[in-house]
Amino acid sequence: MKAQGYGKGTFLWATLVALVIGLIMLSACQNQTTPTTTPAPGASQPTAGIQSPTAGPSGTPSAQGGGASFSDQNSKGQGIFAQRCAKCHGQKGEGVTAPAVTGPNAGLAVYGDNAGQLFSFIKTYMPQDNPGTLADDDAWAVLAYILNQNGLYQGPKPLGTDNAASVSVKR
Ligand code: HEC
Repeated sequence: MKAQGYGKGTFLWATLVALVIGLIMLSACQNQTTPTTTPAPGASQPTAGIQSPTAGPSGTPSAQGGGASFSDQNSKGQGIFAQRCAKCHGQKGEGVTAPAVTGPNAGLAVYGDNAGQLFSFIKTYMPQDNPGTLADDDAWAVLAYILNQNGLYQGPKPLGTDNAASVSVKR
C-alpha cells in the first residue's frame, strides 16, 4: 500500500515534471522562433524597400518613369501632360478650368512639401476625369515634367521613389 502510494506519487510527479519541461521547451522554441522571425522580415524589408522602386514589379529602368535618363522621362511626361492633363490645366499648365500647375500661381505644395506626396496626389486624384488610371511610370513622368517646367527638379536622375521625398515642391 505504502509503496504503491509512493509509486503513484512519483508517477504523477514525473508526469508533472515532464509536462513542465515540455512547456519550457515549447516556450523556449517559441522564444527562439520569435526573435529569428522578427528580425528576418525587419532585415529583409529595407532591402526589399530599396529594391522594389528600382527593380520593382514594372521592371528595372521603367520603374522610375519609363526612361534611363531624366530627359527621357521629361519628354514622356510632356506627352502625357498634353494628352491627359492639358484640357483642364492648360497646354502649358497655366490653368484653365483647373488650377495652374506651372508658374507663380501653381499650387504644387498644397498636398505636401515634397514630390513624393505630390506623386501620391496625382496617382490618386488625377486626371480628375479619370482618376487612378495613370501607371506609376506615367505619373512619375508627368510629375517630372511639371517640376521641370517649374524649375523645381531638373535631374540628372529620373524622378522616382528613391529620390522624390528629397525633392521639395515648395517655392
Ligand atoms: C478634368 C479636369 C482635370 C484633368 C484632366 C486633370 N486635372 Fe489636375 N486638377 C483638376 C482640378 C479641378 C484640380 C484642383 C483639385 C483640388 O484642388 O482639389 C486639380 C489639381 C491638380 C494638381 C494640384 C494643383 C492645385 O493647385 O491644386 C496637380 C499637380 C494636378 N492637378 C495634376 C494633374 C495631372 C498631372 C493631370 C494629368 C495626368 C491632371 N491634373 C489632369 C482637374 C483636372
